[in-house]
Amino acid sequence: MSDLVERLREVVGAAFVLTDPDLRAGYETDWTGRFTGAARCVVRPADTAEVAAVVRACAEAGVPLTVQGGNTGLVGGGVPAGTGDVLLSLTRLTALDDVDPVEAQVTAGAGVTLERLQAHARAAGLDFGVDLAARSAATIGGMVATNAGGIRVLRYGSMREQLTGIEAVLPDGSVVSRLAGLAKDNTGYDLTHLLTGSEGTLAVITRVRVRLVPLPPARAVALVAVDGTEGALSLLAAARSRLAALAALELFYADGLALVRAHGNLSAPFAQEYPVYVVVEAAGATDPTDDLLELLSDCDAVQDATVASDAAGRARLWAYRETHTEAINAAGVPTKLDVCVPLRELPGLVEALPAAVAAAAPEARTIVFGHLGEGNLHVNVLGAGDRAEEVTDAVLKLVADRRGSISSEHGVGRAKARWLGLSRAPQEIAAMRAIKGALDPAGLLNPGVLFP
Ligand code: MLT
Ligand code: ZN
Repeated sequence: MSDLVERLREVVGAAFVLTDPDLRAGYETDWTGRFTGAARCVVRPADTAEVAAVVRACAEAGVPLTVQGGNTGLVGGGVPAGTGDVLLSLTRLTALDDVDPVEAQVTAGAGVTLERLQAHARAAGLDFGVDLAARSAATIGGMVATNAGGIRVLRYGSMREQLTGIEAVLPDGSVVSRLAGLAKDNTGYDLTHLLTGSEGTLAVITRVRVRLVPLPPARAVALVAVDGTEGALSLLAAARSRLAALAALELFYADGLALVRAHGNLSAPFAQEYPVYVVVEAAGATDPTDDLLELLSDCDAVQDATVASDAAGRARLWAYRETHTEAINAAGVPTKLDVCVPLRELPGLVEALPAAVAAAAPEARTIVFGHLGEGNLHVNVLGAGDRAEEVTDAVLKLVADRRGSISSEHGVGRAKARWLGLSRAPQEIAAMRAIKGALDPAGLLNPGVLFP
């Protein structure tokens, strides 16, 4: 066994350095099954001091690290590209401090799952502003590293907006810690927000301080059928101006609904089929059901709707949207693209996608869903076979032509590094590379992620 593996065993304990291929396997392939790579070993430290010692040992040995949270990322950013990396898993960093009700903040270890943070905040009468379907496995550290978005961005913003402080291990093993959670702090470069969304390329995030939001006691959800993407945008505009309690507004299409229903054995939401569906959630201090019903009856784009105010009914309606990811994965290994365009460009993009994908991969089929409020579409291509790169190229170019972003919320990872130049100017990429070079001159953290 190599000297480095022995050293890592001394740091974290032999039980937490996995070299057996069977034990490593679950860490070495991403959630979609598309990205995979063999690690020298998987190392599972328990706290910041152990992470720092692991990073130092790897830096001294000149061995790159791939950093992984809950392994729910969808762009291959948390699995090794080559065979020599140490895979650093942060799932044991599960310390979770008491909620501070005066600041409405809490400090969480990188390995705390979103679901646990939500339960912890709710037990204190507060809530966490970000929510997403992978909540049971996604970790807070990974969500910060990728600046995760999810279903409540239109109300509370992405992970970046939740952060008031960060603790991280730099590539030389030194620790930076800013966890006081000061509401105002203008003392130079903002490391908290620089590391957010840096996809593990600049530092290993070990703890974060996040703000919490009020827990709305009343909630209502509508599943709404509309006649097209333009109709969905009309509903969004109406909801934005008239529904003060608007909490989420999500989009999917008839083919996605058919897949989800077959996968989950779900009943049809309406007596007839419609081309486009929108989930609208409202949450507030008082029951928002009447406001939601009034919005739906006044909006011309609405073809049909069903509303639920009780928890079971709301979960039933959300399932049509939230089970898209697993239903798609059950149908095959997808090429997943996560893009965003200005809202006025959205209908044109949706219309152009099928022909662009067909030109790149004639046998493929495309399922689209997403977060309508941000113009964020999840373009999932099934059956691309060995044409995944061509499909990626075609879709991302359509997006760039419409002034969009090639990564709305999943990050660039390995999947889209080649196309970074479609979203960022050469000067920006040069500045980003200069920052990377300053913090990680040897290129030890997440090589192959973000930069081509
Ligand atoms: C979602 O919005 O459900 C997630 O981003 C997952 C996905 O894109 O499949
Ligand atoms: Zn999403």
